[in-house]
Amino acid sequence: MGIQWRDSLSVGVEVIDKQHKELLMRFDRLLTACEEGKGTAELKKLLSFLEEYVVTHFKDEEALQLLRRYPGYEEHRAQHASFVSRIKELREETDRDGISTHHVLETNNMLLKWLLNHISKVDTKLGAYLNSGTP
Ligand SMILES: [Fe+2]
Repeated sequence: MGIQWRDSLSVGVEVIDKQHKELLMRFDRLLTACEEGKGTAELKKLLSFLEEYVVTHFKDEEALQLLRRYPGYEEHRAQHASFVSRIKELREETDRDGISTHHVLETNNMLLKWLLNHISKVDTKLGAYLNSGTP
């Protein structure tokens, strides 16, 4: 049981959708690895990837918001910041203590809940604003 990109997740902004697709693909890779009993090995790769990619992705989204004077900017940015700090904590924790099953489960849970919820609600709202023609 993996996770696939679906059109309903599109926020209507190509550059953002492309980055979301990449995030989901990486997440799917973790789920597949878990099914094969290789979750812990894949988690290490995923956390290092996320730490970099998510920061770039969030910066891109935030730059668009600033450019278009998006009224929800502060709130949106705060959600990004809390996600980034949780990923960083997880990476530090797993570097220090080694990766155990609960880290894999926590990451799965967080990605599933946070990422999908953020894309389908917060980013979709942003996409609608960006496409609305509001300056
Ligand atoms: Fe976002």
